[in-house]
Amino acid sequence: MNAKPNNLDALLDEKRQFGASAEFRKKAVVRDRGIYDKAKDDRLNFWESWAETLKWNEKWHTVLEWTPPYAKWFLGGRINVSENCLDRHLDEGRCDKTALIWEGENGESRHYSYQDLLEEVSRLANSLKSLGVKKGDRVAIYLPMIPEAAIAMLACARIGAVHSVVFGGFSPQSLADRINDLRATCLITADGGYRRGGVVPLKINADKALESCVTIEKVVVVARAGQPTKEFSAEMQNGRDHWYHELIRGAESNCSPEVMDSEDLLFVLYTSGTTGKPKGIVHTTGGYLTQVVATTKCVFDLQEDDVYWCTADVGWITGHSYIVYGPLANGATVLMYEGAPDWPDKGRFWEICQKYNVSIFYTAPTAIRAFMKWGKEWVQKYDLSSLRLLGTVGEPINPEAWVWYHEVIGEERCPIVDTWWQTETGAIMISTLPAVSQTRPGSAGEAFPGICTTLLDEDGESVKAGFLAITEPWPSMLRTIYGDDERYEDTYWSKWNGIYFPGDGAKIDEDGFLSILGRVDDVLNTAGHRIGTMEVESALVDHPSVAEAAVVGKFHEVKGEAIAAFVILKEKWDASDELVMDIRNHVAEKIGAIARPDSIVITADLPKTRSGKIMRRLLKDVAEGKALGDTTTLADPSVVQGLKKQYLSEQQ
Ligand code: PRX
Repeated sequence: MNAKPNNLDALLDEKRQFGASAEFRKKAVVRDRGIYDKAKDDRLNFWESWAETLKWNEKWHTVLEWTPPYAKWFLGGRINVSENCLDRHLDEGRCDKTALIWEGENGESRHYSYQDLLEEVSRLANSLKSLGVKKGDRVAIYLPMIPEAAIAMLACARIGAVHSVVFGGFSPQSLADRINDLRATCLITADGGYRRGGVVPLKINADKALESCVTIEKVVVVARAGQPTKEFSAEMQNGRDHWYHELIRGAESNCSPEVMDSEDLLFVLYTSGTTGKPKGIVHTTGGYLTQVVATTKCVFDLQEDDVYWCTADVGWITGHSYIVYGPLANGATVLMYEGAPDWPDKGRFWEICQKYNVSIFYTAPTAIRAFMKWGKEWVQKYDLSSLRLLGTVGEPINPEAWVWYHEVIGEERCPIVDTWWQTETGAIMISTLPAVSQTRPGSAGEAFPGICTTLLDEDGESVKAGFLAITEPWPSMLRTIYGDDERYEDTYWSKWNGIYFPGDGAKIDEDGFLSILGRVDDVLNTAGHRIGTMEVESALVDHPSVAEAAVVGKFHEVKGEAIAAFVILKEKWDASDELVMDIRNHVAEKIGAIARPDSIVITADLPKTRSGKIMRRLLKDVAEGKALGDTTTLADPSVVQGLKKQYLSEQQ
């Protein structure tokens, strides 16, 4: 197998353990390991007891129907997610409690109580209905990090429309691909979004995307950027485009939630796989909500007076489950920030923590490594005494970054939860529970109660280091890939019989701590973003000069992995710095800036096996300056030797 320990070498000798303080443990949501015993004794009953904490219009008659690899949870149950995230809290006395605090990049701030949020969501839900959006219709959401993003998701959930949020950093082409795959009929976007003082022209991008989309009938546009210059002005197409503020101004603030079947679709979220085409991950209603509610409460030790901040973008699964659905279904106060961590300076996050008394902070290792690089002076300017719990997600965390997070941000007071999960799993699957588990830097800990994980080798034999595997279905699991059951079966369920293969390598140490080592397939994790090597390769060969391309991830101090591309030019094209820049920009235009290769090496040849398969493993060795691994299966070993020499000379 090809697990990538990279900067995780230090894990091998990691023996330190940390535990929560007695004070933390005393008040914690979960105070003893009885929760694990309960789940072990009767897994289905454990999940049922969490489902019972939600408001159902009709109770389920069967907890689980498992016809591998297809699962249905809480069959016969009827429920609405938006009602559980909003209306329910008014009945439980949280009418005036702040549901959402929003901090704009330029320092403006908005607060929504649960009552405000319910009214705003209901107005948009009614507006969508008036535009003809019905239960089961697909609505694409392409917005910056503004409250309207969460409001749009909840409004769709309220009327039973299926939302698909597309990260605002994605290109017009990526947006169009997703809209077309879904046959979405409505798009919710904004005139622009702020990022490091500049404006991302979302409406212009959306208009470009819509040139190749025939199914979109209505576009709702949030006036965020205020059309500062002509360059960014959103031209509104008569009959198709509607300003959000005009629509909701005339809409009723009462909208009764559509009663949904537990297995009705809640959303589709696209993620990268090992082919050039992203996968539309399908999530449904009752099981998803049950697991996000349980994990938010237990893993983050959510208390009534917490101010909870997850720094992810709503365009990713973390934003879905742990900015919107999990915290709001628990009646929490959620903070949402629009901009970058280093704008206007590198202390911005800590200024926000101080300003709003943030108590729970959830971010990605790549951000922690950037904070480390910027230095603790930026952190220590601010009072972070409100913080009581820290979380990390998205990629393996190296022990050095973990300890820095613990000492500098957590001031040695805050337990850290390292949460492993995926777009496909919908909710956290592996993590410590802060008051009852010891933590070890670089280790996610153990499976959440009710989740069954193991480590297997290729033949399905149990091992101490190997592939991570999930042996039983879980409530928030993906149900399929939108419109492609075959790909669903092949990708996740064909390695072992009836066992889910997440695509990660992992190891378990002698004290039982589970560490995730990274992807074992052709998926990169760069700055916490998941990108398929094939996706980048397809964008590279789309450039007129490129004949062939191969992409690998190479170790990067901050991003975890950087995107390294090797490219063969077509005849008559000459290598130059300008051409390299142009090819890099082409990839960013095709997919989005997150996929822009960090380096491109122009080469005359690529290392291939005798059957013509590119050996990416060797390219990775070249890119990381390591000794070359086994080259005996190559058709021509001199190709990779030459490439290595070229690479080294270009680096100097
Ligand atoms: O490789 C694992 C890594 O991120 C992948 C999932 O990416 P995505 O679907 O974009 O979801 C990210 C946020 C949940 C996984 O297959 N990953 C996620 N969390 C961790 C992690 N790797 C190590 N440790 C984690 N805590």
